[in-house]
Amino acid sequence: MIQINNITKSFPSVTALNNVSLEIQDNAFYGLLGPNGAGKTTLMNLLIGYLQPDKGEVLIGGERLTRDNLSIRKKIGYVPQSIALYDDVSAQANLEIFGSFFEIEKNTLKERINAQLNTVGLYERRKDAVKTYSGGMKRRLNIAASMLHDPVCLLCDEPTVGVDPQSRNAIFDLLEKLNSNGKTIIYTTHYMEEAERLCDRIAIIDSGVIIAEGTLATLLEQLPFDETISIAKNRETTSRLEAFKELGNLIEHDELYEFEPAHGMQLSIFFQQLERHNISYRSIEMRKPTLEALFLHLTGRKLRD
Ligand SMILES: Nc1ncnc2c1ncn2[C@@H]1O[C@H](COP(=O)(O)OP(=O)(O)O)[C@@H](O)[C@H]1O
Ligand SMILES: [Mg+2]
Repeated sequence: MIQINNITKSFPSVTALNNVSLEIQDNAFYGLLGPNGAGKTTLMNLLIGYLQPDKGEVLIGGERLTRDNLSIRKKIGYVPQSIALYDDVSAQANLEIFGSFFEIEKNTLKERINAQLNTVGLYERRKDAVKTYSGGMKRRLNIAASMLHDPVCLLCDEPTVGVDPQSRNAIFDLLEKLNSNGKTIIYTTHYMEEAERLCDRIAIIDSGVIIAEGTLATLLEQLPFDETISIAKNRETTSRLEAFKELGNLIEHDELYEFEPAHGMQLSIFFQQLERHNISYRSIEMRKPTLEALFLHLTGRKLRD
């Protein structure tokens, strides 16, 4: 288990993390979701012992993480936000270089390099220079490099930024496979779809503060509505939708209205109202709310502004 206890970290011009506490269970697929500048990378840098907190502490398996505590730092693998590879040499050579940073016995390292190249699907291309790789392949090689010392926990900092959709799926599959083989994954992103798809628990961070934490289901329960209903805008709806205001929150957009029925409002009442006001069912669409809606609800801002 990783415990982050009351961490505060300031830079000269900004408090990047303000009294952050989180608990990450073994074998979790844990998401840290927040907009640019929220403090995600700063937290990653604290978890690898690269930065020291001003206040608070990180415990890994109950042991306090310090700059010198190498044995627990080895429990963590780190895939940094900016890809760090030697471009002119092969994947194989890159892994040999990264492997040499850890004290790994020669034959063990050789086996691990082969195993990792297979796991990340780059074995066939292992002898090609990294500069011939796509963004997604480089990212997968970065993941392989971070796994060579066989850490129990892998930190991935926005691993899909700048990666095409197909490679993104390959990265998702790879991380899911590592997680089902027992690795704890900590995954930062500003894409709420990724957090929703991958993570079994999610912390939402904004301006250095954890503003919500839990499973996707418990997070969405914090919204004062259970679904979002879009209603196409036309002359009829515009004049007749007034009646819905008492049933929930009605938001007007350019092309449509978005209706957020109050918690516990029976949908049958909503449909009765549609019927009474002669509004076609065909012009409505019902969706489950998303983390985007939660972020908007909690901060008044969009996640991706
Ligand atoms: N080394 C640094 N020196 C000064 N300010 C920094 C440094 N690293 C991060 N920051 C600031 O801390 C805040 C959080 O940054 P960061 O952790 O990189 O956010 P995120 O990864 O969520 O985009 C930002 O305001 C950023 O400008
Ligand atoms: Mg970052």
